[in-house]
Amino acid sequence: MIIAQISDPHITTIETDESAANLQRAVDHLMQLPTLPDVVLVTGDCADTGSRAEYERLQILLSPLTMPVYVIPGNHDDRAVMLQMFGAQGQQPLDGFVQYVVDREPLRLIALDTNVPGRGEGALCTERLAWLEARLAEAPTRPTILFLHHPPFLTGLAPLDKIRLLDADALGAIIARSPQVERIVAGHVHVPMLRRFHGTIAMSCPATASSLLPDLNQPQRLAVRLETPACLLHVWNDSTGLLTYTSVIGAHGPVVELHDGEKWLG
Ligand SMILES: [Fe+2]
Repeated sequence: MIIAQISDPHITTIETDESAANLQRAVDHLMQLPTLPDVVLVTGDCADTGSRAEYERLQILLSPLTMPVYVIPGNHDDRAVMLQMFGAQGQQPLDGFVQYVVDREPLRLIALDTNVPGRGEGALCTERLAWLEARLAEAPTRPTILFLHHPPFLTGLAPLDKIRLLDADALGAIIARSPQVERIVAGHVHVPMLRRFHGTIAMSCPATASSLLPDLNQPQRLAVRLETPACLLHVWNDSTGLLTYTSVIGAHGPVVELHDGEKWLG
C-alpha cells in the first residue's frame, strides 16, 4: 500500500501564480509513478486565503488524481469553507472539524484538524484530543498514521516556532500510550524534518508551493524558493513495515535499470 503525501499547495486565484503550476507538477508526478499510490493526503494550507474560489481551483488541479484524495486544513485554510466544499471525508468525522478516519486495511489513517481560525499557530482542543484517543482505542494493534498540518515539535527556527502546535505535549501523552502509531506526518514548515516523538516518528513533508531555506546559523531568519522539490511516499508492506520515501519531483536523468528481478545488471 502506498500513501502519497503532498503539502502546502497554497492555491490562490491569481492566474499567473506559481503555486498552481507547482501543484500541477506534483499531481503529474504522482500519476507518473511506476505504481500509482492508493491514497493521496494533502496536509494543509490547501488554499492561501481560504476563499471558496481557491478551493474550486484546488479541486480542479487535484482532479487528475484517480485515487481517493483526503485534505485537512492548515493555518491558511478556512475550516467552514473546507467542510462545505469537501463534505464529510473518511469515516467517523468529528462534527464541526475536519477530523476523520480512513480505514485502508491493513493501515488506519487518522486526520487531525489543528486549525485555529485567524491564527498561525495550531491547536488540538480537549474535544479533538478526546476524539483521537477514542479512535486509537478502537484499533490498538492496527498500524496507524496520523496526519495533521502543524508538526508536533519545535524546529529551532524562531518564526516557525511562534506558530507551532500548542498542544504537542497533550498529543504526546496520548501517543505514548498508543504504540500502534507508526508515523505522524505533517506539513506547515515547507521543509522535510523528522524527529522522535513519544515512541513514534514525527515528520514534515516538503511543500508544493515553496521550499524553506533555513539559515541554521541565524535561526531567526527564513527564506523560501518557489519550487516543488518533492513529496513523500509512505509505503506499507507486511515484510518491511512502514517505510517513508522522499520522491523527488522535477527534472530527472535517464532511467538505468540495476536489477531485473532475478539478477543485478552489469
Ligand atoms: Fe504553508
